Formats: sequence, C-alpha cells, structure tokens
Amino acid sequence: MNDSFDFDRVIDRHNTGSLKWDRYKGKDVIPLWVADMDFQAPRPILEALHERVEHGVFGYGLPPEELVQTVVERMAQQYNWAIKPSWIVWMPGVVSALNVVCRACGEDGDEVLTFTPIYPPFLSAPPQSRKSIKTVPLAREAGRYVMDYDRFESEIGDRSRLLILCSPHNPVGRRFDRRELERIAEICLRRNLIICSDEIHCDLVLDSGRHMPTASLSPEVSARTITLMAPSKTFNVPGLSCSFAIIEDADLRAKFNKAQHGIVPGVNVLGYTACLAAYRDCEPWRLALLDYLRGNEQLLYKTVNEEIPGLSMDHVEATYLAWIDVRPLGLPNPGRFFEHAGVGLSDGKHFEGEGFVRLNFGCPRATLLAGLERMKRAVTGK
Ligand SMILES: Cc1ncc(COP(=O)(O)O)c(C=O)c1O
Repeated sequence: MNDSFDFDRVIDRHNTGSLKWDRYKGKDVIPLWVADMDFQAPRPILEALHERVEHGVFGYGLPPEELVQTVVERMAQQYNWAIKPSWIVWMPGVVSALNVVCRACGEDGDEVLTFTPIYPPFLSAPPQSRKSIKTVPLAREAGRYVMDYDRFESEIGDRSRLLILCSPHNPVGRRFDRRELERIAEICLRRNLIICSDEIHCDLVLDSGRHMPTASLSPEVSARTITLMAPSKTFNVPGLSCSFAIIEDADLRAKFNKAQHGIVPGVNVLGYTACLAAYRDCEPWRLALLDYLRGNEQLLYKTVNEEIPGLSMDHVEATYLAWIDVRPLGLPNPGRFFEHAGVGLSDGKHFEGEGFVRLNFGCPRATLLAGLERMKRAVTGK
C-alpha cells in the first residue's frame, strides 16, 4: 500500500496545538468531536508546502492563477457547473464567509432562515450580524431527514431575506438531491430569498449519488446564490484556513466584498499552496479516503444500531459525521455522559438537537473501535 494512503496509521496528535485533542489534555478521552480528521494530509500537499516553505518569503498572498483555473475546471469536471474566475472570492474560512453573508444580505432586524439541527455557527451568525434567526426543523420521511417545504414556506415572513443551507448537511449527513434542491430553490426564488449554500462537505459523498451545487440548478438560482466551499474538510487541512465563495451576481458579490472589507484578512499563503495541491494532485487520495470512510461508516452504523441499545443513526450519505439519537437513554447531558465514559462527542443541544450526539468518524479504524467499545460499555455496563 502506498504509504500516503495508510489511513490505519495512528498519528499521535498530543502536544501539537490541536483543538480536537487539547480539549482533553491529560485526560483519557478519545476525541471524536470537532470536524477535522486524524489522518495526515495527502503527500502532494506536504510536498507543495515543503517547497513553499523552502522559498522562505512569506509576504502577502494572492491566489495563484493556476489555482483559480483549477477551481473553475474542478467545478466543471466534478459538478458539471460552469463558473467564471471572477465569481470566486477567496476567504480564510467558511464560518467567516457565513457571517459576512449575514451582514451583506438585508437590513438590521431582517430574518435569516435555516433548517435544524444545524452546525452551530449557522445559529450564531445571524444574531452576530444583527439579524434574527428562524429555525425550521428538518422532518423525518422514510427513515431519513428531509426538508419540510410547506413548513419552510409558512415561516417566510415580510422581513425574511436569506436561507442559509448546509448541503451536504452537517450534522444529519444528508446529500440533498436535485429534486429536493429544486423545490427549496423554487420557494426561495418565488419568495425573494437569497440562498447561501454551504457546500464545504461536497467532496465527501459516501453514498452512490453525486453532490449537486445549489447554484448549478439554473441561471435564475445561480443569480441569487452564494456558494461556500473549501478543500479543508476533504483533504484535512482546516488549520490552513483557505476557502472560497462563488458568487455569480455582481451586485451580490459587491455587497459581500463590502461587508468583509477591512475585517476579514487575506488567505494564508500556505493555504493557497495546499488548496492548489489538493485540487490538482490529490484525487487518488480523496477516492481512497472515501473508501476508508465508507468502511468506518458501515462499522459505526452496525455497532450503533445493533450493539448499543438505546442508540440509533441513519446512514451517512455525505460528511464524516454521524448524528446519533440517544433519546431513549433519557440522559440529562449526553455529551457529558460519554465524556465520562472516555469519548468526546459533540452534544446535540448546540445544534438545536437535544438528545443527540454527533460523532466524527474521520479517524483510523482502531480509534473508532476503541471509542465505540467505550460507548458500548458505558451504555450496557459490558
Ligand atoms: C457546514 C460547515 N461549514 C463550515 C465549517 C467550518 O469552516 P471553516 O473552518 O472554514 O470556518 C464546518 C466545519 O465543520 C462545517 O461543517
């Protein structure tokens, strides 16, 4: 096996200034919470970074021309989506971009909608931008989470300006298909809402379907959509802070740029380097990663649903995050309960999902197995 594809290799991340691991410094807790993976980044990224570091001059950066072209080609090849270089706005983070979008769209006191449960910054970005947030719960249909179109439309009011959509969805792991996206986009167009589509997990599809960028549905949808993407989740480089927005409409792009001006810094030069290497040279690694994650997902799905009474989960269609229902256990604080058992999970209450935990399975199988053993012991006493 090619060394760079050895996803089973356990890398010690203690004392590396890791958010994920340092939360439990000095404690015997396996961290399966924040969304970064415990794998080394692909070899071409490491080599590109070494070369860039050897150059030794780290002045203010610009996106290399080759990177811009690579993103344009990637959108065409992976998603059959024709974009122009001028539509791309580079950003140091998707969460920053989400906050900028909330500032850029509408007036103070206007309303932003989102589907819950949801990645917590979706809940905090609107109030941080002097907007109110209206949450619409995802519904259950045929054993999976779906958007409730009627409920969504009924929640749209006079001051609603923006839908912030997570596609694929963190935490429920749904990969929304064309039909679902068309229905939601049709409502947004008819009711005059801007769509911000956070597609940071778009390259992490685990099921047999394909990701569809919301903006690629039609020119009309594209004209009202801000798409957010990054190489960070897929290629495990979130600490290098490189992401981008794709905004076709020039007015919307100008508003976005105005809202971030003087506040959001430029992208780290190493971030650009990593992004180019990721998109240009790391497709074999990504495909191998997806296979490995599928294996982890199957193990997790079987263990959770068949071996730990009181726990259940749906298949994860995309992302490396599982949304686990622990409500039957009746725990007052599920996150704390599993932490005491030696596993660090994200508690659903932060996602407007009380009674659930989110588990990050982007780790070597041995780490996942050890975490699951602890969870099983905590619940069954065996
Ligand atoms: C949906 C979603 N958006 C944004 C982020 C974070 O993006 P960034 O680190 O670029 O701010 C995450 C990380 O888990 C995420 O799941």
